[in-house]
Amino acid sequence: MNESMNRQYYLASRPITLPTPSDVPYRDVPVREPAEGEAVIRNLYISLDPAIRGWMSEVNNYIEPIAIGDPIRSSVIGRVVKSRSDLLEEGDVVMSLGGWERYTYGAAAAMHKLDENAGIPLSHFLSVLGPTGLTAYFGLLEVGRPEPGQTVLVSAAAGAVGSVVGQIAKMRGCRVVGMAGSEEKCRWITEELGFDQAINYKTCGDYEAAIRQACPDGVDVYFDNVGGDILDGALMCLNKFARVAVCGWISTYNDPDAPGPKNLWQLVAQSVTIQGFVVLDFQDRFAEGIDQLANWVMAGKLKFREDIVDGLDNVLPTFLKLFDGSNSGKLIVRNPE
Ligand SMILES: NC(=O)c1ccc[n+]([C@@H]2O[C@H](COP(=O)([O-])OP(=O)(O)OC[C@H]3O[C@@H](n4cnc5c(N)ncnc54)[C@H](OP(=O)(O)O)[C@@H]3O)[C@@H](O)[C@H]2O)c1
Repeated sequence: MNESMNRQYYLASRPITLPTPSDVPYRDVPVREPAEGEAVIRNLYISLDPAIRGWMSEVNNYIEPIAIGDPIRSSVIGRVVKSRSDLLEEGDVVMSLGGWERYTYGAAAAMHKLDENAGIPLSHFLSVLGPTGLTAYFGLLEVGRPEPGQTVLVSAAAGAVGSVVGQIAKMRGCRVVGMAGSEEKCRWITEELGFDQAINYKTCGDYEAAIRQACPDGVDVYFDNVGGDILDGALMCLNKFARVAVCGWISTYNDPDAPGPKNLWQLVAQSVTIQGFVVLDFQDRFAEGIDQLANWVMAGKLKFREDIVDGLDNVLPTFLKLFDGSNSGKLIVRNPE
């Protein structure tokens, strides 16, 4: 690749199911000078998140859809190669909203400077000390509100968000059951992360029966990462005054015909609270969350996996790993200098 050109993977058409290379082709555009107040960064890490699939569609969402012709939007960490702002200088490392591209241009004021000499691998700021760790932290504690002794069920439990949710719930004194899509993932969350039990949802058969068996005292908090039939099974196992924290519905993102949940009447039957959230709802408390997550990581109480794939040109096939479950933890593309 020619470093003097900016390779960008952009949205050419809105996918209906899984995005294909014709929905997300690339182009090479000449680099330009940053405008006044802007900086240009060379992206080192590109965060791949299920939410990006939602932004590719023209639906009501918490931020605008990606416009046709725009680079695919994602969180990035990059090194400043040129700045026309007093806030940043060449060589600084920043986290920013950027794209699936070699260089990102943006207002320096909207870029968050990171200390690359703090002894923390930069990728952690996209995972456990970044959006996915914070989603787990605030989603579980503020929306799920688990009490010691209660049972917490989490889906996509070996993923970036789910694996952190389960460990925090254990630290809160809960019984924790995770649902994941392979024996290896089920072993990891029970043997390494301390979950009490795991359900392999690809082999367990009837979800309601499997959840009932793994949660003999019922479910007090369901942290929902997947929606669909697993949500329906979980709804049937909820205790009186249970909470359902709706974090994401990944099973529906590539299926325009996905049916809605059938068992929502359990909200009445069991006086259940169901609440959706986005991590940005807690933006003014991010410093507190990062501080707590970092303390747990340093104390060895919080483990996590990162799945880092090299090469900007691998970005689309790598993104698809989120939807077949072949990612192991937080999925990131690295674009070495
Ligand atoms: N609300 C927020 O602010 C917020 C922020 C970040 C993420 N999220 C949501 O949190 C969820 C997890 O995101 P993540 O970044 O941590 O990704 P992740 O869990 O690391 O990766 C996605 C996982 O989802 C599972 N999956 C994929 N398709 C599925 C299906 N049809 N049925 C059941 N499971 C399926 C796969 O694991 P298996 O191998 O176990 O199937 C896959 O590894 C997503 O729904 C995402 O949209 C929400």
